[in-house]
Amino acid sequence: MISLHGLTKVFAGGVRALDAIDLTIADGEFFALLGPSGCGKTTLLRTIAGLETPTSGTIRINDTDVTSLPPGRRDVAMVFQDYAIFPHMSVADNIAYPLRIKKVPRAQRTARAAEVAATLSLGGLLDRRPSQLSGGQQQRVALARAIACHPRAFLFDEPLSNLDARLRLEARTFLKRLQRDLAVTTVFVTHDQAEALALADRIAVMSNGRMVQVGSPTDVFQRPATTFVAAFIGSTPMNLLPGKIADGALHVAGATLPSPTGLPDGTDIVYGVRPEYTDLTTTERPDAFPGAVSVLENLGTSTLVTLETAGPLIQTVVPEGDEPRLGTRAWAVPRRALIYRDDLLHTTAP
Ligand SMILES: Nc1ncnc2c1ncn2[C@@H]1O[C@H](COP(=O)(O)OP(=O)(O)OP(=O)(O)O)[C@@H](O)[C@H]1O
Ligand SMILES: [Mg+2]
Repeated sequence: MISLHGLTKVFAGGVRALDAIDLTIADGEFFALLGPSGCGKTTLLRTIAGLETPTSGTIRINDTDVTSLPPGRRDVAMVFQDYAIFPHMSVADNIAYPLRIKKVPRAQRTARAAEVAATLSLGGLLDRRPSQLSGGQQQRVALARAIACHPRAFLFDEPLSNLDARLRLEARTFLKRLQRDLAVTTVFVTHDQAEALALADRIAVMSNGRMVQVGSPTDVFQRPATTFVAAFIGSTPMNLLPGKIADGALHVAGATLPSPTGLPDGTDIVYGVRPEYTDLTTTERPDAFPGAVSVLENLGTSTLVTLETAGPLIQTVVPEGDEPRLGTRAWAVPRRALIYRDDLLHTTAP
């Protein structure tokens, strides 16, 4: 278990990279840290690992306060974005390196390295140098090195970002299975929302050194707490449309919808609806967003349709075969929406 209390890091120069973070990660949990560039993900990981000293706050691992312990005594293994494997060492020596630091006898080291290499399908590559490996193999060497010393936690900083799209998908599945088998607490940094949704038991969405939302992938996807989270999560971005309550109804992007309870006339809101949660029709109806079909993007088994309206563009996903004709008039009917007021989730509609 890893728990953080009031964790704050202010760098020289005044950048507040972590701002009073309170968080508990359960034993064996796969926890993803998601957020845009510069929001503090790497700083948080490095602070847990002991590579940065927090300005204030505490870090506990399994009820031991490790805040002032050096990295080597925290018993966590970090895998960096660029793997940081040693180019002059063989695969076997790279994997065994942390055991050498711990002064484990040579025979034991070699046996352990071979055993871990076999679980990561690196068995035939033990004598090679990193320069003789593919990107995916190098990444597995970095993982093997992290696993070799039985850490209490894994800290991964975008470990898949150097892989091409296909290899990345394979590595993702592999990593998830591995983590499940080893049941080691894992903190995984990514700025890829799909990766976070796919891998994690829980996700924290960060912005400016703070946790905006912490929840299961379903929570974060279905009930993003703010428009920031809503815009960040989902492979096609959520439609976020400005609207207003008037005459007891909700007016947004040319549609008149039932007003959510508790909001008085004159209230400005943001109406959030995912492209996947809209239906497209060519029959006019008052509770749908009218627009002209301006772009069709093939997503494989479905099509992303962009409607040009008087206001913002609206996107909707239709099943293959149901594509409207370019330039025709169509209406997007919201099925499941979220209503934000002052950037806080207010209620769901319709
Ligand atoms: N050593 C440092 N000195 C001063 N500022 C730093 C230092 N390291 C990071 N920062 C700043 O702290 C903030 C958080 O940086 P961090 O590297 O944690 O972001 P990140 O979320 O990992 O971003 P990315 O997705 O680009 O890797 C940024 O504004 C960054 O410029
Ligand atoms: Mg980073």
